[in-house]
Amino acid sequence: MNKDKMRVMADRVFRDMAGGMAAGLAFVGTETGLFRAMQGRGAMTESEVVNASGLQARYVEEWLKGMVAASYLDYDAQAATYTLPDEHAFLLASDGTDHFMGGMFAMLPPLLAVAPRVATACRDGGGVPFADYAPECRHAIDHMNRGNYEHRLVDYWLKQLPEVSAALSNGGRMLDVGCGRGFVVLAVKKAFPDAECIGVDPDAASIAEARTSAAAAGVAARYEATTSDALADTGKFDLITLCDVLHDLPAPIPVLEGLRARLAPGGVLLVIEPRVSDNLEENINPLAAMFYGFSMFHCMTQSLAHGGAGLGACLGPTRTRALFAQAGFSSAATLDIKSPTNLFYAVRA
Ligand SMILES: C[S@@+](CC[C@H](N)C(=O)[O-])C[C@H]1O[C@@H](n2cnc3c(N)ncnc32)[C@H](O)[C@@H]1O
Repeated sequence: MNKDKMRVMADRVFRDMAGGMAAGLAFVGTETGLFRAMQGRGAMTESEVVNASGLQARYVEEWLKGMVAASYLDYDAQAATYTLPDEHAFLLASDGTDHFMGGMFAMLPPLLAVAPRVATACRDGGGVPFADYAPECRHAIDHMNRGNYEHRLVDYWLKQLPEVSAALSNGGRMLDVGCGRGFVVLAVKKAFPDAECIGVDPDAASIAEARTSAAAAGVAARYEATTSDALADTGKFDLITLCDVLHDLPAPIPVLEGLRARLAPGGVLLVIEPRVSDNLEENINPLAAMFYGFSMFHCMTQSLAHGGAGLGACLGPTRTRALFAQAGFSSAATLDIKSPTNLFYAVRA
């Protein structure tokens, strides 16, 4: 046995356990407002953080020390002060922006809560249906994605499809399939008030929350608790979106075939998927490891729960394109959009 190799592995195990625990501590930091309480404040003593956050002193103390140990906070041992560097605050205390990374931490509690059921499914088959995840899972998906939908979808991503933007400006129609809590539809409707914008999702709880958000924003978006194939509306759409949904679908081909039939002449199906390589050897990095975890504890597993395809989050571009071809689409262009996490396809009938 190579002892050095074993030591490297032991370090890796500690590092990964530390990563899980650091993410848990950071989740507490985003949920309680601790990061925000420290944002732009420079060096703070423990009692200053307690006062600024209004939280329990003993919890704050342990959180501060844990976040120092994980290198999220800087520590001055002489002055016994803690600092959230501006660069870290930009990523962690920036909820609602397109540079907020803190939403990802919220995925861990609901996803790892089903880990025992995933282990059982490994033995017995089946999976965990979407509706069985804690409500926090819907909120976490939303928390992770909303900043991008509010700040990039219209002003950056749709700029790549000028013909679609023109159609929507002139009273066109859009459909978001698997709309979750509805923020894609909301962003498009806000930017194109004359367009008719509809979101569908079979998860009734997500649709209820989407309707509440639209009402609160005073936006006349329409949400239906259904799948795209069961949608009673038989009209055509200039834009159909599948945002982080395609790989979740239990039956992707019939859904894609149905969407192809619903595209108006010149219409586009915009598909957003995780950015991973086709080749596993190119996926040996933290981002892909995270996506495989999301897949195992959510995407693949909730599809398999419905007897579905279980495509998983790390489908990769070649297999994604094969789905489009199999469903009869004539072309699928990869859009030139810079994103560390996503690939974008403009798919045409
Ligand atoms: C990972 S979430 C993405 C939600 C949202 N699009 C976003 O980007 O935040 C996947 C969504 O697909 C929905 N979904 C699952 N099966 C579906 C189907 N057959 N038709 C439409 N949506 C479906 C789920 O209910 C869930 O809301």
